[in-house]
Amino acid sequence: MSLNSYKPTAIFTGMLSSRSWGIVLAIVLCVVGLYALNHPNSKTSFCTVQNDLRFQQMFLNSTSNYTVSSYLRDLTLHPHLAGTQAALQTKQYVETHFKDLGLQTHTAEFEVLLSYPVHASLALHYRDGSSEDLQLTEPGMAGGVVVPYHAYSPSGSAFAKAVFVNHGSNEDYLALATLGVNVSGCVVIARRGEMSRGGVVEKAAEKGAVAVLLYTEGDMFGGVERGTVMDGLGDPLTPGWASVHGGEKLDMEQREVTQRFPRIPSMPISAENAETILRSLDGPRLPYEWRKDALRSKVQRVGPGPTLLNFTYQGEKKMVMIHNIFAVIKGWEEPDRYVLLGNHRDAWTYGAVDPNSGTAALLDIARRYTLLMHSGWTPRRTIVLCSWDAEEFGMVGSTEWVEKNLLNLGSKAVVYLNVDCAVQGPGFFARATPQLDNLLVAVTKKVKDPDSEEMTVYQTWAAREEGILIQRLSGIDSDFAPFLQHGGITSADLYYGKDFPVYHTAFDSYDWMTQYGDPSFHRHVAVAGIWGLLALQLAGDPILPFNYLSYAAQLQEHASSLRNLLGNSTSLHAITTSIQDLAAVAKQMEEEAKKLREQETTDDLLELKRHSLNDRLMLAERAFLDAEGLQGRPWFKHLVYGPINDNESKLVFFPGVANAITQATRMPTKDGLPAIQHEIWRVARAIQRAASALRGELI
Ligand SMILES: *[C@@H]1O[C@H](CO)[C@@H](O)[C@H](O)[C@H]1NC(C)=O
Ligand SMILES: *[C@@H]1O[C@H](CO)[C@@H](O)[C@H](O)[C@H]1NC(C)=O
Ligand SMILES: *[C@@H]1O[C@H](CO)[C@@H](O)[C@H](O)[C@H]1NC(C)=O
Ligand SMILES: *[C@@H]1O[C@H](CO)[C@@H](O)[C@H](O)[C@H]1NC(C)=O
Ligand SMILES: *[C@@H]1O[C@H](CO)[C@@H](O)[C@H](O)[C@H]1NC(C)=O
Ligand SMILES: *[C@@H]1O[C@H](CO)[C@@H](O)[C@H](O)[C@H]1NC(C)=O
Repeated sequence: MSLNSYKPTAIFTGMLSSRSWGIVLAIVLCVVGLYALNHPNSKTSFCTVQNDLRFQQMFLNSTSNYTVSSYLRDLTLHPHLAGTQAALQTKQYVETHFKDLGLQTHTAEFEVLLSYPVHASLALHYRDGSSEDLQLTEPGMAGGVVVPYHAYSPSGSAFAKAVFVNHGSNEDYLALATLGVNVSGCVVIARRGEMSRGGVVEKAAEKGAVAVLLYTEGDMFGGVERGTVMDGLGDPLTPGWASVHGGEKLDMEQREVTQRFPRIPSMPISAENAETILRSLDGPRLPYEWRKDALRSKVQRVGPGPTLLNFTYQGEKKMVMIHNIFAVIKGWEEPDRYVLLGNHRDAWTYGAVDPNSGTAALLDIARRYTLLMHSGWTPRRTIVLCSWDAEEFGMVGSTEWVEKNLLNLGSKAVVYLNVDCAVQGPGFFARATPQLDNLLVAVTKKVKDPDSEEMTVYQTWAAREEGILIQRLSGIDSDFAPFLQHGGITSADLYYGKDFPVYHTAFDSYDWMTQYGDPSFHRHVAVAGIWGLLALQLAGDPILPFNYLSYAAQLQEHASSLRNLLGNSTSLHAITTSIQDLAAVAKQMEEEAKKLREQETTDDLLELKRHSLNDRLMLAERAFLDAEGLQGRPWFKHLVYGPINDNESKLVFFPGVANAITQATRMPTKDGLPAIQHEIWRVARAIQRAASALRGELI
């Protein structure tokens, strides 16, 4: 990414309506004040703060459900799977939007390995010798929509007995074993649950299955859920470095590459097709716990057989160019500190929810920031709006870009704010690293609730049964993962609605959004409001609004959960001590920040003190990274939040510890304890590093 040099005069060249001139005059006074930052004893901070609040207000009252809905309509006219011609149109749309607003715009291209379907067939062969071909498309699937498939599934065929494995988890296979069912040599039918698609296929392969058919329960539209089955993030040919054109690429047949793909073919099927297959099975009855929603109890028996399935899948892996687009609003005082807002643009089908509700919000934020710029606003730090490509294949666009820019991001990125599916339905949800909790809550107090008159988002959020609940970011399901889990960058992820029935199907269209997801587009407006305000504060506040007391409190809770899980078998003393140290430093920082905020005058020395404090606040998150990364998955460097191999793990944090505990359960008692204790020590050292980073002194 190249940031061109900033021209201060640009802020006065925008179109100004005559009534804006009064505002301009006020701003000129403040800007003059900002110039005076270099002159000791000039009074500017009051002016700056007032200005920031005024611009926040201006941002809030520049909302429009009309602009955001028109962006969404334009973006979702055609299906736009990454690497296809249609995807280029959405690329141009976003690029043109940024350019037309007068924003500095550029593209980062990568050459990556994506995967597309060529041919698939599925036939049932019943006990009585009759057979039936199943329809593999979706009802109402119009031109240009890719047939349902699993990206990176190997090509292959199977002619074998069908067997039902529920979600395909370890527990499910144990239940089958007690019924005497062996899935070896069979085609497995599994129901989508919490496990990743790739995880289900890999587990089935481990048990000797020859193919997997995966269905999703509860989609009244009859859609079929597409998705990737690749393990890990980014282009499989360039693990750990960027897939630039002409750069190093691994050979497709290399183990490092092939081990990221499942060993057996798989495909998604509709719930209707799943029902046809499952109702024809014989063998033992379903275990009791599986019955409650296995196709609403129409399924009686698990098989295997007697029905045989003839399944073929042929796919192709292709090198294609993908395009990330950026718009940059250069900061005034700290141009080399970045506040990044990101959303992916590529979709399995029309992508009205996933991801273009987020894209529409991003484009509206760009529009509104430009209005602010025309009124004289420039952020203190640089704001970068990022539009990612090929997220659906495994966060490919964002991962390659993070790998390419790792060093500059490491030293200069303040925060990454992600929105993927901005609106899936009602209710605000957030995931974040804990130093952002307070800011997130504060911002929701300023944004109107889209569904209740006279209420703020905060009020309806707090009134929900579970209260204000901010989830953490151990998942690897959107573009925050490379930023946080590889780059150690403070991150958040925002959305409206818990989930949605047309996920990854041809029904994820503008019509669905206007009928069910957000008929008047006020939820889009709310997400854009929260997202844009968060960035305004993170890019504008003289002292970064990061609260490490929240982080320490969250770590303490994590440690208590771990204690409950492990009992007295392992010592958590090291973790507890380091959290206490972190909390103590965090408290000192709060006081330091308070003093600096209260300074009425400003001068070079104060600016230096702020800068030092801000850098320590920014870098503390990096301290959770460990050079060696997670055992067996060295690309994931973050020891507090990262992928947990066993979804049945009680822990959704400390991935190294969680994975060591899972491994220990497969060993004789006590054999696994040293590995758990080692992982606990690593976490303790990471927390200690964070405390040192905050303290910022050599000891
Ligand atoms: C929006 O906020 C700005 C700044 O407070 C104010 O000048 C302007 O009049 C407001 N516009 C509307 C439509 O409320
Ligand atoms: C399942 O069947 C396969 C092939 O017949 C056999 O190798 C395997 O040991 C069996 N597994 C169990 C748990 O019985
Ligand atoms: C793990 O996945 C299985 C199957 O998808 C699901 O039934 C179970 O609830 C999940 N467990 C957790 C803790 O998420
Ligand atoms: C299975 O399906 C393939 C592809 O349609 C077909 O070529 C093959 O003959 C079928 N096999 C059987 C045993 O029906
Ligand atoms: C915008 O909101 C108004 C008021 O709720 C509503 O009447 C209008 O239909 C909405 N516009 C769009 C495009 O949804
Ligand atoms: C763990 O040790 C503490 C203090 O020695 C004791 O009070 C507690 O009962 C022990 N817990 C278990 C689960 O053994």
